Amino acid sequence: MTDVEVFENYESEVRSYCRSFPAVFTTSKGSIMKDENGKEYIDFFCGAGALNYGHNNDYIKEKMVAYLMSDGIMHSMDMMTVPKKEFLQFFEEKVLQPRGLNFKVMFPGPTGTNGVEAALKLARKVKKRNQIWALMGCFHGMTLGALSLTSDAGSRGGAGVCLNDVTHIPAPYMFPELDTIKYMETLLTDDHSGVEKPAAIIIETVQAEGGVHVFSNEYLQGVRALCDKYDILMIVDDIQVGCARTGTFFSFERAGIVPDMFVMSKSIGGYGMPFALTMFKPELDIWSPGEHNGTFRGNQLSMVAAKAGLEYMLDHKVEAEVKRKEGIIRKYMDENIARPGVEIRGIGCIWGVQVADGKLALAICNKCFEKGLIMERAGRDNNVLKLMPALVATDDELMRGLDIIRDSMNELM
Ligand SMILES: Cc1ncc(COP(=O)(O)O)c(C=O)c1O
Repeated sequence: MTDVEVFENYESEVRSYCRSFPAVFTTSKGSIMKDENGKEYIDFFCGAGALNYGHNNDYIKEKMVAYLMSDGIMHSMDMMTVPKKEFLQFFEEKVLQPRGLNFKVMFPGPTGTNGVEAALKLARKVKKRNQIWALMGCFHGMTLGALSLTSDAGSRGGAGVCLNDVTHIPAPYMFPELDTIKYMETLLTDDHSGVEKPAAIIIETVQAEGGVHVFSNEYLQGVRALCDKYDILMIVDDIQVGCARTGTFFSFERAGIVPDMFVMSKSIGGYGMPFALTMFKPELDIWSPGEHNGTFRGNQLSMVAAKAGLEYMLDHKVEAEVKRKEGIIRKYMDENIARPGVEIRGIGCIWGVQVADGKLALAICNKCFEKGLIMERAGRDNNVLKLMPALVATDDELMRGLDIIRDSMNELM
């Protein structure tokens, strides 16, 4: 049996990324992944945002190895441990407080969708309303509550039950002539709208899986103001574009807004470790003890990695580094990628290149893979190349990756 046949024969048909990147990977460092034939790939996928600080980041690794070697507690449900104490203190004092953010930290299960589920439950419990509003084009996870928000038909198709209690609102880019904030306000005030007032509106500040649509500061401020006016909770899903991906640690900082709740996962685990946080204003913390539970909440090694990741982010001024790289990418896009029939969108270190259709985007991604670049597709019909380099990629790695995209597009378009 060849290596690939092992996966094809034994693993479920549900597998997905391994179909896009058909190599058996062995080691990785920074922005580079290696397969078992020794071929190197530049990683512009980064675990869909879980590897902002690069693969096997030495600083974080050392902290994790030291913890393992000390026989530190590995599993403790949500008991009090030193890693949890140190993470909470560091996050509070070095990340939240300097930004003037007063939030309670909840450790849900260790994935993004777990964090979203917890936020939905709490929002509904606080407001005693069952509806949640989400945007068309959003992605919030694959478990039932989160999936009822997630808008793409392919993901929803797997549910097998009705996905209820969510109203989808057009995203602002879908109908540029429509004021979608006003539209939402009409839904709330028109006694013939037929739409119930929600407990919360959940939003990504950049729709990542939706095709890299960056929402303007004015739009985000508009949603905040609407939520305030009508006593609705604003939830920001910062799972993919948080952790400095857009140039500020929390993606909503650029709009000068503070949500009522936000959810983090992916790179908050520092090293690609499973970890998630559901954050909410203290007055919303009406949980009874154990009302939301889970065996793997607060994985201890993830907490060690998460704290080390935050230290690394601050010590290496990663936010400023992202802003610098944004300039490099934007210039490169203008000079080398822009062409008729192509739309380019992005901020910080997340960029989307929309081409004519999904078939062409697939051909480009496959060509890039052949040339040694790993890059995902996103958006309607999967027609957007989604570039997510490590925030700590060297300029040389960044340019090599961009050159591969340019060359692949030149060959195929
Ligand atoms: C914005 C957003 N929310 C939620 C999720 C779900 O996270 P997870 O796959 O860890 O459940 C994702 C995953 O891609 C995401 O991008």
